[in-house]
Amino acid sequence: MDRNWAVFERTCIERWRSAGLLSMPEWDEFESRLVVEMRRLSELLWSLYRDRPDFAFQFERLIEEVFAAWRVRPPALKARDRQFPPESGWFSASGQVGAVAYVDRFAGSFRGLMERIPYLQELGITFLHLMPFFRSPERQNDGGYAVSSYRDTNPGLGSMEDLEALAKALADAGIVLVADFVFNHTSDEHQWARSARSGDADYQDFYLVFADRAQTEAYQSHLRDIFPEVRSGSFTWSIDMQAWVWTTFHSYQWDLNYANPAVFRAMAGEMLSLANRGIAVLRLDAVAFIWKQRGTSCENLPQAHTIIKAFQSIVRLACPSMLFLSEAIVHPDDIAAYIDPRECQLSYNPLLMAELWEASATKEVRLLSLSLAKRHRLPDGCAWINYVRCHDDIGWTFADEDAAELGINGRDHRAFLNDFYIGTFPGSFSRGVSFQYNPMTGDRRICGTAASLAGIERALLEGDGQDIDTALRRVLLLYGMAFSVGGIPLLYLGDELGVTNDYSYETNPAESNDSRWVHRPRWDARRAAERDDQTTVAGRLHHGLADMARIRAEHAVFGTQSLSVIDAGHTSVLAFRKQHAGELLTVIGNFADRPVRLDQQTVFGLLHGQAGTNLLDRSLVLPDQELPLEACGMLWIQQRVPV
Ligand code: GLC
Ligand code: GLC
Repeated sequence: MDRNWAVFERTCIERWRSAGLLSMPEWDEFESRLVVEMRRLSELLWSLYRDRPDFAFQFERLIEEVFAAWRVRPPALKARDRQFPPESGWFSASGQVGAVAYVDRFAGSFRGLMERIPYLQELGITFLHLMPFFRSPERQNDGGYAVSSYRDTNPGLGSMEDLEALAKALADAGIVLVADFVFNHTSDEHQWARSARSGDADYQDFYLVFADRAQTEAYQSHLRDIFPEVRSGSFTWSIDMQAWVWTTFHSYQWDLNYANPAVFRAMAGEMLSLANRGIAVLRLDAVAFIWKQRGTSCENLPQAHTIIKAFQSIVRLACPSMLFLSEAIVHPDDIAAYIDPRECQLSYNPLLMAELWEASATKEVRLLSLSLAKRHRLPDGCAWINYVRCHDDIGWTFADEDAAELGINGRDHRAFLNDFYIGTFPGSFSRGVSFQYNPMTGDRRICGTAASLAGIERALLEGDGQDIDTALRRVLLLYGMAFSVGGIPLLYLGDELGVTNDYSYETNPAESNDSRWVHRPRWDARRAAERDDQTTVAGRLHHGLADMARIRAEHAVFGTQSLSVIDAGHTSVLAFRKQHAGELLTVIGNFADRPVRLDQQTVFGLLHGQAGTNLLDRSLVLPDQELPLEACGMLWIQQRVPV
């Protein structure tokens, strides 16, 4: 490319001149960014599409469309672009608290959600992910992740205009809107898929279509089944096309063919239309799967990163305040590879999530401590999204080699964790549900709400007052870690009220084969009404979480990413320390379901011989005394230090 770069650039500019772009009033400002991005973007795309004869054509059109999207970008969003570029690092501030919900289940509609903004404010929410609200098939929609049109909303929720109004109302309340970019696949009802099915060769090239089994076999043996209880294999026969289509997830979710530059360009268009609706952060769904190559697992390939970086480059041109959040539920090394200021600034932290539950089951923090020491650090300009539960299952994604360092056999340990969270392991406090058992590999994952997995459901059924206290503290301990390790904590709405599993999915034909529905709660008016009463489950949790959000916002040290893990002298006690300016924060959490005491010498060491304040109850913590910790108890100890 190097030699021909100047020629390529000149040809592009000539084309844009003749298309009249250069004489438009907005061009100069756009050009100031284009000079920075054009080389990067064209090289990224060239590395993918150099063999495609339409490369230059697609590139020129792409830039024209990016420019057009920027021209119509609403002034308020352009102002946001200037005020909050990614380099401002606004998302790392301690005041950020995230939440996620289904629009219909949480508030009925976009308008209903507008009325729930004060509820979000009670919890200090500043970052709201709304689960996919796009048009999707009525029944086969994978909870919204089978999108039939990125430009239309699910009519039951309201219109795109309602969504824009909601985005504005949220922005006025200091809440950014996060939405999904479901870019690995579309539903088989998407117009592109319909055209493909009706025989349009251009649209067949939007998907991965194979004439015969021999072609799919070449890939199949290297692939894993994501939903093995639903189907086996990654290909689906299309009667209309008389061909096989690549479908990584469900048979109605057709994987897009990113080896075709027209697909990249089309999806860039969909992405920009979302950006201009007022969405500030895009959650990049299923990033690991977007590039396929024979003889590989077709996950986490280098070209997947190239594609995301190219989308990021487009964002910098047309909507530069927009951030990407990576959803990669894969090996920790592979998760880390997506996190970069020029790729995804934000990433889910599935490792922390899984290991919080792991430590709760084992009452041992060694795996969690190891991961925090070894894998928590991120590049500058990036942040974790720390969650406890989400709409998906829990997979035990720790690295086998990390476990082996501690003498733990990964496979056996996963089997134990599954038994524990399903609730069959003796002494388990959990009532979870199995998800996608694969008899070939023995793998399975776990579903259940935080309250049910942490012991609240069992304690309520079995009526043990002590157990329920511990279970409530366990939920607050897990969230307390997510609120304090650094990054944006993400509250799965419903958890703040202690909503337990909803087993009604079992008798609903549209949901019964997907146990994730057990933990996708509907707004619970009864529990919500109890949220100010601290004698109730809802009141204890709501109060605890709102408190943590408030404390977080008041102390900048919570936003600090780097931490050091310290040995608290107990296998069940996690301790880490963070510093920001003159403020030192020591977080201590006991994962055992019985109280423990830290001896005086340990306490002296933890506190460097100085007294501190537990921010959670404003009590004084003295360095020359034993420190008692309740079952699942947690302290956030603040100290002042000279700078
Ligand atoms: C993501 C979603 C999950 C969905 C899958 C397929 O992983 O979080 O809910 O099933 O993508 O779109
Ligand atoms: C797998 C995928 C992840 C998806 C999940 C849905 O873990 O890696 O992307 O969300 O399955 O269950």
